[in-house]
Amino acid sequence: MTSYPKTTALMARGAEFLGSEHAILCGAMSWVSERNLVSAISNAGGFGVIACGAMTPELLDTEIAETKKLTDKPFGVNLITMHPQIFELIDICKKHAVSHVVLAGGIPPKGSVEAIKESGAKVIVFAPTLALAKKLLRSGGDALVIEGMEAGGHIGPVATSVLAQEFLPELAEDHVVFVAGGIGRGEAMAGYLEMGAAGVQLGTRFACATESIAHPDFKKAFFRAKARDAEASVQVDPRLPVIPVRALKNKGTEEFTAKQREVAQLLDEGKVDMGEAQLQIEHFWAGALRRAVIEGDVESGSIMAGQSVGMVTKEEPVADILQQLLAESEEALGRR
Ligand SMILES: Cc1cc2nc3c(=O)[nH]c(=O)nc-3n(C[C@H](O)[C@H](O)[C@H](O)COP(=O)(O)O)c2cc1C
Repeated sequence: MTSYPKTTALMARGAEFLGSEHAILCGAMSWVSERNLVSAISNAGGFGVIACGAMTPELLDTEIAETKKLTDKPFGVNLITMHPQIFELIDICKKHAVSHVVLAGGIPPKGSVEAIKESGAKVIVFAPTLALAKKLLRSGGDALVIEGMEAGGHIGPVATSVLAQEFLPELAEDHVVFVAGGIGRGEAMAGYLEMGAAGVQLGTRFACATESIAHPDFKKAFFRAKARDAEASVQVDPRLPVIPVRALKNKGTEEFTAKQREVAQLLDEGKVDMGEAQLQIEHFWAGALRRAVIEGDVESGSIMAGQSVGMVTKEEPVADILQQLLAESEEALGRR
């Protein structure tokens, strides 16, 4: 088996934290990151994460149980902080002794970090600003993911390269920090590791792996797309703050504009409050992503993809993608 000593040394802290061979996470992708992809990533030495998304506690229960049948390696569960049943979902993770819970989509609700830790699991948090990162790490977060706007799915406003320069010098020595967004090759991975990252998280690069259940038409759309095709959604109404989503441009992009207008009007008429309005927007995305990933509706569904989509050109087994990333990283580090 090939070894990658320089890369492995830089990833040692992250790998120890995750309990995996390599500190490479496959970030949770709603509808894509289910038992097959998650177990394949973990079996190949990376770290898979189940996307709970809008799942009910019963569905999550089944998904974790089925994933466990396919791998005995550690994997994580990604919970969206605004999920109305987040505490029931935490209980399900506890029931299965899930080792790592990733809290995504906003500030964790009061008591959630404590509840996860009490179950014995490690908590991985996201933070868009350094101040919030420090606060979350002080109040129980065990590791941090910083994710730049190159990423697929919901995004913040700042590029990965800038976030890495802001966060890593301040936090990397004392904390486990994973860098995500726009990583398509091992050379980039090596760069962030040298800056102090304990590991990396990729989504787009793994979405079309052989083991991914994504519809063949969803995968074809990825193979055809270039970086510039993965566009961030636009907020049409200043009163309705929506988190931008990066996806391949199609008819669904326009439908989202119409949906925003519809929800903004409901807000104006006092028929919904801001929380409900934002939940409706999130349900729109969940439905649109499902149509693209599961049904292959690449016209009006949402083909969430990061800018690294241009580096995804064919279907490959997860193990091959991981080996490529590691080999590219090792070669880059060897040239230093
Ligand atoms: C199709 C798709 C769906 C995603 N769904 C989620 C999600 O449900 N929860 C989450 O925290 N991140 C989600 N993400 C973000 C990924 O977990 C990951 O952080 C991101 O893809 C990393 O950036 P990259 O796409 O440039 O590799 C999604 C990304 C994609 C491409």
